[in-house]
Amino acid sequence: MKLLRVILLCMTSVAASAAVSPTTVSRTSFGKLPNGSNVELYTLKSDQLELKLITLGARVTALTAPDRNGKSADIVLGYDNLGDYLHNKEFYFGVVPGRYANRIAHGKFTLGGKPYQITLNDGVNSLHGGVEGFAARNWSAKEIPNGVEFTLVSPDGDQGYPGTLTSHVRYTLVHETVRIEYSATTDKATVINLTNHAYFNLAGEGNPSILGEKLTLDADKYTPVDSTLIPTGQLAPVVGTPFDFTHATTIGDRIDANNEQLKFAGGYDHNWVVRGVPGTLRPAAKVYDPSSGRVLSVETTEPGIQFYAGNFLDGSAKGPAGKPYVKRSALCLETQHFPDSPNHPNFPSTELKPGHTYHSVTTFTLSVEK
Ligand code: GLA
Repeated sequence: MKLLRVILLCMTSVAASAAVSPTTVSRTSFGKLPNGSNVELYTLKSDQLELKLITLGARVTALTAPDRNGKSADIVLGYDNLGDYLHNKEFYFGVVPGRYANRIAHGKFTLGGKPYQITLNDGVNSLHGGVEGFAARNWSAKEIPNGVEFTLVSPDGDQGYPGTLTSHVRYTLVHETVRIEYSATTDKATVINLTNHAYFNLAGEGNPSILGEKLTLDADKYTPVDSTLIPTGQLAPVVGTPFDFTHATTIGDRIDANNEQLKFAGGYDHNWVVRGVPGTLRPAAKVYDPSSGRVLSVETTEPGIQFYAGNFLDGSAKGPAGKPYVKRSALCLETQHFPDSPNHPNFPSTELKPGHTYHSVTTFTLSVEK
């Protein structure tokens, strides 16, 4: 009798949680690639947000969130058609860059005593995985509870990287939080660094500037770079510099300060060292837009975060509403291992060995302040 009651209780609670399941997932076609393969569009809808994802680049194409008056807007840059994604690749809108997000100096590193050369696509360096990085791949996809899992198998030697690398990116949406979970395995020692390259403008995509938004970074140090944006290897204190975002600071206040680091990058495009223990999910960044009241909070298990202020946007790309994406009209917060880690033994390692699993989690949570 008692057992029956327990079973009944369990069944009711399972049914109740199914009834309040906050997220719906739907799938449709986003178009066909020149090679005939189909790009799929997944729409995740919770009681708070709507997230659109496509298989090309395992990318975010739209994220709709309410402002302080309950009015919704798409707060990430992107396109509503495949043609635009195929013609404007250089901005990496919403993609999962890989195998190695950000830069590797001269595309060179040594692993197990063997030298490797990766394809170069950023002057003298390799950026976001090289010429045909993960952003250009049509990932396979399957629905999972509250979301989608994308999978990509990158063959041994792809762009010069060793090992067959199988990567999974799981996007889930629950209420006001988008969670991205990355995992990967390899059959030979290799390097890996995955992130998401969504461009946010909390006032809505197509608004001309993020310079009035306020940023907090949970970081006391950053990794200064040379003139080609490769880290020098130093972990420099932010205190007393334009890189100090330990307290909410308006992004435009110091972006054009007379500072060599800002000159190298044309503004902010640097990696900050996130406080706390890598591997544990902890706060990394917060952005507040005074005009809409929207707040974006980022948590990650990664050791670093790239704050890129959209300095290379030039108005050549236009969003679904027809507004040009001009310089500094969006910002990226790319949770990551530090750029060029394979060439800096003092940085947390990006090596993945056979028999081990790469694992990384980042969450983006939307809220409003009055
Ligand atoms: C990253 C880099 C930037 C730039 C963008 C893409 O954020 O750090 O320098 O290459 O990607 O435009």
